[in-house]
Amino acid sequence: MAQAQKRIGILTSGGDCAGLNAVIRAAVHAADQKGWEVVGIEDGTAGVLDRPHRYQVLTPAMFDTTIMRLGGTILGTTNKGNPFKFPMPDGSFKDRSNEIIEGIKELKLDALIGIGGDGSLAILKRLADQGGIPLVGIPKTIDNDLGETENSVGFETAVYVATEALDRLQPTAASHDRVMILEVMGRDAGHIALSAGIGGGADVILIPEIEYNFESIVAKIKKVREKEGRNFALVIVSEAVKTLSGNKIEVEHHGGETRYGGIGHYLGENLSKECSCETRVTVLGHVQRGCSPIPSDRILASAFGVHAVNLIAEGKSDRMVAWSNRCVIDVPIESAIKAYQAVDVKGTLVQTARALGISFGDEM
Ligand code: F6P
Repeated sequence: MAQAQKRIGILTSGGDCAGLNAVIRAAVHAADQKGWEVVGIEDGTAGVLDRPHRYQVLTPAMFDTTIMRLGGTILGTTNKGNPFKFPMPDGSFKDRSNEIIEGIKELKLDALIGIGGDGSLAILKRLADQGGIPLVGIPKTIDNDLGETENSVGFETAVYVATEALDRLQPTAASHDRVMILEVMGRDAGHIALSAGIGGGADVILIPEIEYNFESIVAKIKKVREKEGRNFALVIVSEAVKTLSGNKIEVEHHGGETRYGGIGHYLGENLSKECSCETRVTVLGHVQRGCSPIPSDRILASAFGVHAVNLIAEGKSDRMVAWSNRCVIDVPIESAIKAYQAVDVKGTLVQTARALGISFGDEM
């Protein structure tokens, strides 16, 4: 049966990650098959806050497979400027949500696809509820902390990059008789460190969900180097792991925004003293986000983009596409945002790591 002509919008919001372009491509192709038009809004909601609006009509001709391979997002994104508390040049904050809603209405969209993490999807949902805009969400975040989905776009690639970093650190650690510390992203969830730590053969994995005991880490490193006769050790640490005094280390950036960072160097200094060994620290940072998506992220992104368009065709909104048991499904956006997904400290991956002899710094 022929579908009614629709014009749908799509935007990327929050921190970028690998696979965003693959999502956009999939949505454009799926919409085109239904004879619909797709409007790509630039820089998240900023594109409809600005006057004139910043957007581009996206056609399949623009999406040969080159774009699917590219990191970043061709639409641009932002993880600043909450429209409900928008920072103004004079230092005050203003609710600019209605300007965005008006902007979206002016584009005459039948529905909007928002690709974002928990923060972005919460903001988009609030805008959609306030403005009566049919919204479908697509989860993306290297942190993989959104609930109701086993996987979010970008996570697997970040794990691949962090694993590859351990692969590269191991030979140089062995050559120089060193303990290498790799600090990875993930915000308050330790998913990247846990998966990459197992995949990359770490001796110690430190994640925010498991409180560590410094002596336990020291004991593990000494055991590896002194008893097992191995001259090197690999430690992977999530950026939000606390110091010995119980604080997360944050760095202030332009505009007063804070981000985690620094725990790797902190541990490096302390371990060097206590283990009487050379330590070196690598902070992987945005390298985890800005590369070509690995195949599993391209596949996830494609399935998500297609399913989002199908939901709109079925007249469904306020849903987030999700991955469950090898299938794409959809769930209420609200429940995905509420069900924050931290590492399950009793789950398969933690148990697997422990059985491999990897320390979480909580043994004794
Ligand atoms: O949420 C994704 C993420 O990459 C986090 O892992 C990290 O803490 C943060 O974004 C970094 O943000 P920014 O790109 O603003 O430095």
